[in-house]
Amino acid sequence: MGVKTSRYTMYTDIIYTMLVTKLLQFVMFMSKKYAIDESHSIGHSMDVLIKAHNIYEAEVERFDDLRAKRRVIYVSAILHDMCDKKYMDESRGIREIENFLEEKMEPEEIDMTKTIISTMSYSKVKRDGFPCLGEYQMAYHIVREADLLSAIDFDRCMIFTMYKNDRTVYEAFDDAFDLFQNRVFRHREDGLYLCDYSKAQDPILRVEAEKRIQDWRKVLCIRERGTYGSPAPPPLSSSPDKGGFIRG
Ligand SMILES: [Fe+2]
Repeated sequence: MGVKTSRYTMYTDIIYTMLVTKLLQFVMFMSKKYAIDESHSIGHSMDVLIKAHNIYEAEVERFDDLRAKRRVIYVSAILHDMCDKKYMDESRGIREIENFLEEKMEPEEIDMTKTIISTMSYSKVKRDGFPCLGEYQMAYHIVREADLLSAIDFDRCMIFTMYKNDRTVYEAFDDAFDLFQNRVFRHREDGLYLCDYSKAQDPILRVEAEKRIQDWRKVLCIRERGTYGSPAPPPLSSSPDKGGFIRG
């Protein structure tokens, strides 16, 4: 029995490894096809996968039936931005994902993967609330919260703005700063975390992001409004700053 269990474990591990490889290759293919920049391509897929895994590990102790949802969690985490309307027609992306997953997962798993990735975005949750996904509810929250945690990355936010809108690094800083104040740093108070792991990780990532913001201020000679003093260079722009900062 022990040998059988061991062989079975080894077999399922190989299947998982093969699937993860194919999924990440699909992400690279889609990213090239739809010009998905690095803020939402393979690096982000890997980050959300690892974070989803960590949340899963913490939650599976409480919700034993999550074990059967592990594959849907991993697949959804890797593919979740491959139908993002920022880069493509959403329904077209979903169709390509469905075709890719055919014969790699059970029909129910494919349906749930499609449902999770098409309802988990911040804007859709703000607009529609959480969907009711029955026995897949926790799987949904794990993937959604992994993506929220992955969003607490200030550089990634700047990178997206610079690629998408061809902005300067100063404009990217301002846009990212606004987004972090109005949205990213409010995840907890907005009640977007249900998993204890996410609630615990959020403040840790927030400290790192705040440090990153301070580092960028130094690199770009950006100071908080009202904190002029030596050795402060004068602002280059005479227009009011959106983010409450002076660029120097
Ligand atoms: Fe994402």
